[in-house]
Amino acid sequence: MFEKIRYRLLIANLLVIALVLTGFALAVRLVFVRNLKQQLTERLITLGQGAVGNAEIDNGQLQVENEFLAQKIIDKYQALEWFNTEKKLVKQQGDYTPNAPLDPQAVVEIQTGKPSIQSITLPILSTESGKLIGYVRVSQLLDEFDETVFQLDIGLGVGVIVAVILSSAGSIWLNRQAMQPIEASFHRLKQFTADASHELRSPLMAISSNVEVALKYPDGMREEDHEVMSAVISATEQMTRLTEDLLLLARTDRASTMTLAPVNLSDLLYDLVQLYHPQSENKQIELTANLEATLFLQGDFASLMRAFTNLLQNAIRYTPAGGKVKVEARRLGQQLRVSIYDTGVGIAPENLEQIFERFWRADQARSYDDGGSGLGLSITQVIIQSHGGSIEVKSTLGAGSCFIVHLPINAKA
Ligand SMILES: Nc1ncnc2c1ncn2[C@@H]1O[C@H](COP(=O)(O)OP(=O)(O)OP(=O)(O)O)[C@@H](O)[C@H]1O
Ligand SMILES: [Mg+2]
Repeated sequence: MFEKIRYRLLIANLLVIALVLTGFALAVRLVFVRNLKQQLTERLITLGQGAVGNAEIDNGQLQVENEFLAQKIIDKYQALEWFNTEKKLVKQQGDYTPNAPLDPQAVVEIQTGKPSIQSITLPILSTESGKLIGYVRVSQLLDEFDETVFQLDIGLGVGVIVAVILSSAGSIWLNRQAMQPIEASFHRLKQFTADASHELRSPLMAISSNVEVALKYPDGMREEDHEVMSAVISATEQMTRLTEDLLLLARTDRASTMTLAPVNLSDLLYDLVQLYHPQSENKQIELTANLEATLFLQGDFASLMRAFTNLLQNAIRYTPAGGKVKVEARRLGQQLRVSIYDTGVGIAPENLEQIFERFWRADQARSYDDGGSGLGLSITQVIIQSHGGSIEVKSTLGAGSCFIVHLPINAKA
């Protein structure tokens, strides 16, 4: 049980940590890339402005001063192009120019693809008239930028993975620390239940044996006292059953208390059905069995008897007169399947989960008022699970129920 809680806590922790770290990494990437791009753009604009100042109109033709020694200013991954107003290329320096016609509207333009190039187009205005005399397109290769972003992505990715791995180790340790006191108090509570029920058995036995002795000699006893004594015996029996159930639950949670031996489930179920025949006949319930001849499994006879008694008792108890109860058992591969059908009151869909809870009884079940405590199915479930099996229920309110038990032939206790 605690293993499952620990596992769920770990998954939840890791999910939250992974989400937070991924969000953080994405934010860092966004800010870093934006700043880097801004810096590159500013550098390009500065270069472009220098190139604009070196273009003049001469005889109606755009001229670029040769003193503009681009090689000194521009890096090898940058390029400059001067265009006249007809967007015709006048001069070019550098190799990496975008493979696209000039678009004066695009102040900043990024050409993606390989090689990835960023370009900026600036207008050239005449120093005298202020009229447009041409354009300068300044470009740069973004290889370095792409490489930096790639490295950043790898760094952040590896960082997130390492952080998640470290956090999972931390989470396991923290969960263990946090669960320890809960586990300890749970075990103390269980131990207390076991001790209390164990200790209650002796006084209860003393009460019932004393009252039984008194009832053996009814001479001199008033008629009313006789009834009172019988009521005391019945209440004591009910309490004894309850304490025994609690003790069994507190103990059977540890499957190791079982002793496994070959059990013929067909015989066990056959005897059980025979035992309950008189009771079902009294209630005018048709009790039938359909069992495969030999169904052996490794199990604890007494516990299995207890589990199937609970199921059969329930089927008879919650089926009105005139109904039917059927017990079926067969082998399916390495498993045995036992189904107990009844045409009884059924269970509401919203209660199907609760019926296995300790002390849970449907409101209508209380009207049977036969001393049921609501522990029967919890005990059955614990026994079946400690045999490595499972129990499920299908039910329709007002029509009947079917409890299906699967048990492995070779249980590992
Ligand atoms: N075959 C069934 N048909 C309809 N309701 C059922 C059936 N079996 C169980 N239930 C419902 O589930 C509840 C829990 O069953 P469970 O066997 O745990 O307790 P109980 O029968 O009330 O008491 P006891 O501890 O004596 O078995 C029952 O009170 C009843 O409401
Ligand atoms: Mg029951």
